[in-house]
Amino acid sequence: MPHPRTATTASLPAFDYTVFGGTGDLALRKLLPALYLRDRAGQVAAGSRIIAVSRSALSPSDYRAKADAAIRRHVAPDELDDALLDRFLGRLDYVSVDATSESGWSELAGRLEGRDEPVRIFYLATTPSLFGPICDRLRSAGLVTPDARVVLEKPIGRDLDSAREINEQVGAVFAESQIYRIDHYLGKETVQNLLALRFANSLFEPLWNANHIDHVQITVAETVGVEGRGDYYDHSGALRDMVQNHLLQLVCLVGMECPISLAQESVRDEKLKVLRSLKRIEQDDIATCTVRGQYRAGAVAGGAVPAYADEPGIPAGSATETFVALKVEIDNWRWARVPFYLRTGKRLPAKMSEIVIQFRPIPHSIFPQTAGELQANRLIVRLQPDESIRMHLMAKEPGPGGMRVRPAPLNLSFAETFGGRFPDAYERLLMDVVRGNPTLFMRRDEVEAAWQWAEEILEGWKARREQPKPYIAGTWGPSQAIALIERDGRTWHEDEIPNAAF
Ligand code: BG6
Repeated sequence: MPHPRTATTASLPAFDYTVFGGTGDLALRKLLPALYLRDRAGQVAAGSRIIAVSRSALSPSDYRAKADAAIRRHVAPDELDDALLDRFLGRLDYVSVDATSESGWSELAGRLEGRDEPVRIFYLATTPSLFGPICDRLRSAGLVTPDARVVLEKPIGRDLDSAREINEQVGAVFAESQIYRIDHYLGKETVQNLLALRFANSLFEPLWNANHIDHVQITVAETVGVEGRGDYYDHSGALRDMVQNHLLQLVCLVGMECPISLAQESVRDEKLKVLRSLKRIEQDDIATCTVRGQYRAGAVAGGAVPAYADEPGIPAGSATETFVALKVEIDNWRWARVPFYLRTGKRLPAKMSEIVIQFRPIPHSIFPQTAGELQANRLIVRLQPDESIRMHLMAKEPGPGGMRVRPAPLNLSFAETFGGRFPDAYERLLMDVVRGNPTLFMRRDEVEAAWQWAEEILEGWKARREQPKPYIAGTWGPSQAIALIERDGRTWHEDEIPNAAF
């Protein structure tokens, strides 16, 4: 059943976005800039409001000053317009609320009461342990209308049990159709483009299986460290922070069957099947299929950076991983015995995310050895930066002197082809909530299936009690990550690495 206020056109209804964690890093760095940019694009209907909520005792005008500074800092200069920014700031309000006591709830209710028309959205950008208590209090304050929506920022819990508990608590107040669990990778343009690449072209699908694909690599590399989020990160680590959500979602989009339509449940049903088909990484596989690392002092983009253990907020001797490499398999007919090598880490040499589909070699060569080395075809989907899809083909080198072949790229650069600006993932996702379209959000069963699989790795690591393998900041992770793939006679794709200055 479509949601009563589902809208698919550009004309969206007015909204009241209440953002819990309104003074936090996510709200200031991502949510407000994204809403400002949508407002600038003319997508925010008159009468829409953003009500920031946190414990801090701030006046609405203090908050507007904070928001003004944050937007000026995080939006590109050519996208800043004083008049439009003023109009946007005029939509902001602030209420001091304590999620764990009675304090502030009646004020919040006062701000929302009598405004039944706008779509009512509660964005929970707080620690996940507050999701349940906030939902309870929203209900007690009578704020949960049948059309209200709640957005949950990741992580949803830290393991299967805590994820289930949060899902139960939130589910006791909101129906599943009202719950939007964010994985911002799904809002990235190139990630959505995977659906177009696979299902809007007839070229790839016949080859998209174990008969033709040798292996898949997914790299999500970052140059940043823990960026003042030491306390959160040290309790999380790269597997919980990146693999359980972002990387697994990418595995799903590469691995899933064609959904029967783009309708929300069809896409999510297919992703769920992939998650349920992931081969378990049991105790005995931990040493061969997983690598966890932690950065030591080094240099990234020419600047010296401290070791993870010396970052602010990190306890001495922390054994949290800042890097993970995995060999993953999907146990189904399409992908039998095709490894998916995943890696992600902080303080790597470049900010770069890409998916590499490595095809099998041709079955028989008619070219003499003197014609050059034949390389199997490779499709590279660059998610960021410089979004592109690049197909490596073998081609004849021009010239009259006999037959020489070498790899040559067919390159689809999104910037060159489509021009214009690429909206940030949050711009798309925040407006999808207003639209009432949850296709690009995670369903409860997806989150739980992802935790079920990831938890076994976490348990395996815990049982082995090994320290993470060290790597120097500014390198591609511990040497064991190279061994993980080279043991299988393959190598990580590291050509065309973008400039590290991100
Ligand atoms: C977040 C993680 O979900 O994704 C961060 O919590 C990480 O640790 C970030 O830095 C990466 O996102 P992006 O869009 O910069 O690749």
